[in-house]
Amino acid sequence: MKQSTSFHVAIVMDGNGRWATRRGLPRAAGHRAGAEAVRRVVRIAPGCGITALTLYAFSSDNWTRPAAEVSTLMRLFARHLRTETAELAAQGVKLTVIGRRDRLPHSLVTAIAAAEHGTAGGTRLDLRIAVDYSGRAAIRAGDLLPDVDLLIRTGGEQRLSDFLLWECAYAELWFTERMWPDFGAAHLAAAIHEFHSRDRRFGGLPTREAV
Ligand code: FPP
Repeated sequence: MKQSTSFHVAIVMDGNGRWATRRGLPRAAGHRAGAEAVRRVVRIAPGCGITALTLYAFSSDNWTRPAAEVSTLMRLFARHLRTETAELAAQGVKLTVIGRRDRLPHSLVTAIAAAEHGTAGGTRLDLRIAVDYSGRAAIRAGDLLPDVDLLIRTGGEQRLSDFLLWECAYAELWFTERMWPDFGAAHLAAAIHEFHSRDRRFGGLPTREAV
């Protein structure tokens, strides 16, 4: 078992809409509950040994969603950044937003800049939020991150959906049927436990067969 000193987890946070619909709630309620799950996971991540966490909040293909849902999400991102910055800084979290900014509402661009500035001194956790992000576009632009060790996707789908395509070359993949708003400490622990039990060979031989 190979343990890296920098443990990079990436999460495709899927299932907010279904979580809400199953409860007879509007999809926006699912996104708000999803934001609570983000808060929970960020708080517990450093204690789980995670040094870098990248969250897929809005893909470049999500612009095709109804305008009302898109603007709800943009407002939610901006509000979350404004309300969380002080707490993130206190926790030693350095927040950056990856993806295109030129198509985002001005108020969100301003909130991103303030949150990045306010958390720039964080050294415990590198938190990256992907907004208007496309893995293919990032590769074309040479805009690459450190390798991902563990990729988690909630909501039952088993695909990458243009997220961190380059960085996930050797990522261990972990999928769960659980919807993102229901994701918490126990599920993160289960994913990490399984990750540590896998034999990561990076194209080499199993440790016990190497000579
Ligand atoms: C996927 O669920 C989720 C999104 C497209 C948005 C992710 C946003 C959040 C988790 C909310 C807040 C985030 C931050 C960073 C504050 P879906 O809507 O595709 O769900 P469905 O597949 O059930 O329709």
